[in-house]
Amino acid sequence: MSDPQPTTGAPGPADLASRAEALDAADELAKLRARFTLPDGVVYLDGNSLGALPAAVPDTTADVVRRQWGELLIRSWDESNWWTAPERIGDKLAPLVGAAPGQVVVGDSTSVNLFKALVGAARLAPPGRTQMLVDANTFPTDGYIAASAARMTGLRVVPVDPAAAAQAMGEDTAVVLLNHVDYRTGRLHDLPALTRAARAVGAITVWDLCHSAGALPVGLDAHGVDLAVGCTYKYLNGGPGSPAYLYIAGRHQDAFDSPLPGWNGHADPFAMTSGYTPAAGAVRGRVGTPDILSMLALEAALDAWDGVSVEAVRAKSLALTDFFLECVAAYVPQGRVRSVTPAEHAHRGSQISLSTDNAREVMAELISRGVIGDFRAPDVLRFGFTPLYVGFADAERAARTLGHIFG
Ligand SMILES: Cc1ncc(COP(=O)(O)O)c(C=O)c1O
Repeated sequence: MSDPQPTTGAPGPADLASRAEALDAADELAKLRARFTLPDGVVYLDGNSLGALPAAVPDTTADVVRRQWGELLIRSWDESNWWTAPERIGDKLAPLVGAAPGQVVVGDSTSVNLFKALVGAARLAPPGRTQMLVDANTFPTDGYIAASAARMTGLRVVPVDPAAAAQAMGEDTAVVLLNHVDYRTGRLHDLPALTRAARAVGAITVWDLCHSAGALPVGLDAHGVDLAVGCTYKYLNGGPGSPAYLYIAGRHQDAFDSPLPGWNGHADPFAMTSGYTPAAGAVRGRVGTPDILSMLALEAALDAWDGVSVEAVRAKSLALTDFFLECVAAYVPQGRVRSVTPAEHAHRGSQISLSTDNAREVMAELISRGVIGDFRAPDVLRFGFTPLYVGFADAERAARTLGHIFG
């Protein structure tokens, strides 16, 4: 495969390739790639959909299956601390979203946690309010679940563009559901300002952190978020279908009334009483028996974050996405792709979305050439940048390969 010729005046492949090399050499996070198992020759830019495999996971998973399950059998609920895994792993994840201990519980899918959070939020909101404001561009499951939660709690869904959500909030707003980063465009919404605006009118906020947790600082406690949910299989690398999480701010825990009061969220589950008494703290967000195999794989996956600051990850993410955009501008013929991800750092998550004709076919071709991103209807090529294992040479190669396809 030959490199495209540089355009006069613009940085060419040699410049960009050597810049990438220098940037990788100076990158203090570059060594973290060794904490992951990635196939040789592949540029993996789909960690915003399924994170890569942390190297510690296979051995842990084998131990959980062979020894904890195979040998200890049911004793593992106590001896291997299976029973307390949802809140223990919640506490392990909490610093990554800026939460003090005792407020995050892991389990179920994001969709299920969203249901708990939205109905719980409606029950926490001041009485008499009628509206549930919902991000008009939301990931579909959030919209579907919001519609059902609103119907169940007597609220009316009002779709809002997150950029204009603050103006839409008022005395009638009970609940506000927003995505921190838009899954399609990679736009980062202003969580601190929007949370402040919601609190000013007494509304309860629910944030979907699927595309921000593990990629940038979230600051749930610092910004006074009420409730939040997120998945762990993207930037947190928990594995396919790994359990999601629910954040219940400490100040709401006593009043949080889950619409799924399963026995695992009971104050004394083994008393087997017929009446429901919720457990104290975020534990009341639990429902049924935890998915131990996935959960303990996630616990091992989170070790990849040992000693890593989310701020450093954010700085690298912005540098990577800036560099990728520069390489795309240099390699891809003008007019063939258009970035729909905001150029301003304040509004950019950790992905670049390029709109183009025949995006599905272009992504298939990229993947066949070893650059894995993904396609989102109708016309978006998505490239997720996970700073723990993606480097600048990966960004350069991805853009150069895209240039070849259009060349
Ligand atoms: C923003 C967002 N919310 C919710 C979901 C759905 O999560 P789950 O399949 O865990 O319910 C996704 C999945 O990709 C997502 O990107």
